[in-house]
Amino acid sequence: MDRNYDRLLVVGDLVVGGSWLRSVLEINPDAYEIATSLDCERNAGKVRSKLHGLPFLVKDNIASADRLQTTAGSWALLGSVVPRDAFVVAKLREAGAILLGKATLSEWADMRSNNYSEGYSARGGQARSPYNFTVNPGGSSTGSAIAVSNNVVPFALGTETDGSVINPSMRNAIVGIKPTVGLTSRAGVIPESEHQDTVGVFGKTVADAVYVLDAIYGIDGRDPYTAAQAGKTPDGGYAQYMSKAQVLKGTSFGIPWASFWQYADQEQLDTLLTMLEVLKGAGATIVNGTELQHPEIVSPDGWNWDYGTVRGYLNESEYSYITVDFYNNIATYLSELSNTNIRSLEDLVQYNIDNVGSEGGTPGIHPAFGSGQDGFLASLATKGARNETYYQALAFCQRTSREEGIDYALRNGGKKVDALLLPPDVAQAVQIAAQAGYPIITIPASIHIDSGMPYGLAILGTAFSEATIVKYASAMEDLFVSSGSAFQRSKTKPTWSNYLDRNLPVPF
Ligand SMILES: *[C@@H]1O[C@H](CO)[C@@H](O)[C@H](O)[C@H]1NC(C)=O
Ligand SMILES: *[C@@H]1O[C@H](CO)[C@@H](O)[C@H](O)[C@H]1NC(C)=O
Ligand SMILES: *[C@@H]1O[C@H](CO)[C@@H](O)[C@H](O)[C@H]1NC(C)=O
Ligand SMILES: *[C@@H]1O[C@H](CO)[C@@H](O)[C@H](O)[C@H]1NC(C)=O
Ligand SMILES: *[C@@H]1O[C@H](CO)[C@@H](O)[C@H](O)[C@H]1NC(C)=O
Repeated sequence: MDRNYDRLLVVGDLVVGGSWLRSVLEINPDAYEIATSLDCERNAGKVRSKLHGLPFLVKDNIASADRLQTTAGSWALLGSVVPRDAFVVAKLREAGAILLGKATLSEWADMRSNNYSEGYSARGGQARSPYNFTVNPGGSSTGSAIAVSNNVVPFALGTETDGSVINPSMRNAIVGIKPTVGLTSRAGVIPESEHQDTVGVFGKTVADAVYVLDAIYGIDGRDPYTAAQAGKTPDGGYAQYMSKAQVLKGTSFGIPWASFWQYADQEQLDTLLTMLEVLKGAGATIVNGTELQHPEIVSPDGWNWDYGTVRGYLNESEYSYITVDFYNNIATYLSELSNTNIRSLEDLVQYNIDNVGSEGGTPGIHPAFGSGQDGFLASLATKGARNETYYQALAFCQRTSREEGIDYALRNGGKKVDALLLPPDVAQAVQIAAQAGYPIITIPASIHIDSGMPYGLAILGTAFSEATIVKYASAMEDLFVSSGSAFQRSKTKPTWSNYLDRNLPVPF
């Protein structure tokens, strides 16, 4: 067990969270009462699930119909009343888990701007990683990952549109599962894009994360994309696929070198290649050169969701449809709220200008929002029009990341591999999985010598292949832990480096 806890101050019956790491934005004032009633149930012999009585946090863009706010970290939605719990929150309550509060995040899950301080929101302040307070703690599900890493809660939920579950998981040395788009309902989640948003889970082990995934996935009439999972999910859930190292014997994993691995820094490569040697020792075959059909779609200079435009093709850029989707999807979300005047992206943009001191609506004023709200403005400029550019860009990104991308790499010219392995710190690799909507799991690998920040090893599969990647991620975790290797969370504990510093913005 880690000994460093985010500070939780008990004040009367309330718990007020997180002044050091700011992983917690708000504590549920009813949490003790809920816990007491669940304890009574347990004492009376009723145990709802493995999660019965466990506290959890959700990212502040996941709605709860209780005394907590749901604001994506922005003051703009303070006081707004959501119509109901998000589907995933309702499922966790049914499973007997206790919603302890809301986790901090990068405001609006990073939709609002392209030059910002990762992990900062106006309501939550700057969340910091216990590994190093001065650097990018990962995001946009920042507080969810930090809280789990630092034992504030045993598990948490976050969301990903393009890296926001995998990145903070890896940067805080925990396990993150980003499910296939359509496995976890987005109903009640403040959106970015219906095509890429997915609710993901954070745990310290693959098992912890999988039990939570089992509790939250399912078909939901309020999110039509979840219908796609019919017939593709296993009876009895994913926990049955948890495996030991032995299952790695006879497996084969592809490493898309030219597409992704070549962009990893040398220190990481040395570590990850040593991990691959350990996998080989357990009987796995590592297949180099399982590439995307069009590796040129991958940005050579790191994460860039407008890389299509950089290549000269607005009609092949992820950002061309994300900006349009956000305009439309946020209006739909806002239409169900009461007690707010915020109904549209226009209203949000105006709010950020009217409250520029706290929300940094114009460039160069707020240290956390260097470019103001350029992301919102880019979305506003589209007026949500699904024109030819939109449909071409969407079709292009889906085709080149799916059948001509990840599935092509998995096929490996007829000699099929079981899954792909990635360095998740190469954010443009996670980006291609985001465009595809395909599932990824990251497990802890090691920490960077110069920053003290962790990185991971990621397992990527095709649509609805969670059973497969759970099987291999858990087997790899078992191998790295049971062999006493250096590649495990317990060998990379947080040091609380620079814990007295409060720099803003945090550098990328
Ligand atoms: C994979 O292949 C590339 C070039 O084809 C090479 O540079 C790289 O070192 C290889 N990686 C491994 C782990 O063999
Ligand atoms: C981001 O904003 C900061 C503060 O305004 C500025 O110093 C920096 O150059 C900007 N970075 C980029 C990449 O535009
Ligand atoms: C579609 O809308 C975008 C954003 O407003 C614009 O840049 C693009 O030129 C439009 N495409 C067409 C074909 O009109
Ligand atoms: C994007 O537009 C260019 C012409 O500017 C065209 O050659 C290309 O095929 C288009 N891409 C898609 C995906 O339609
Ligand atoms: C944390 O980051 C700072 C730079 O912001 C660096 O000086 C320090 O050495 C880092 N801590 C560790 C443990 O690497």
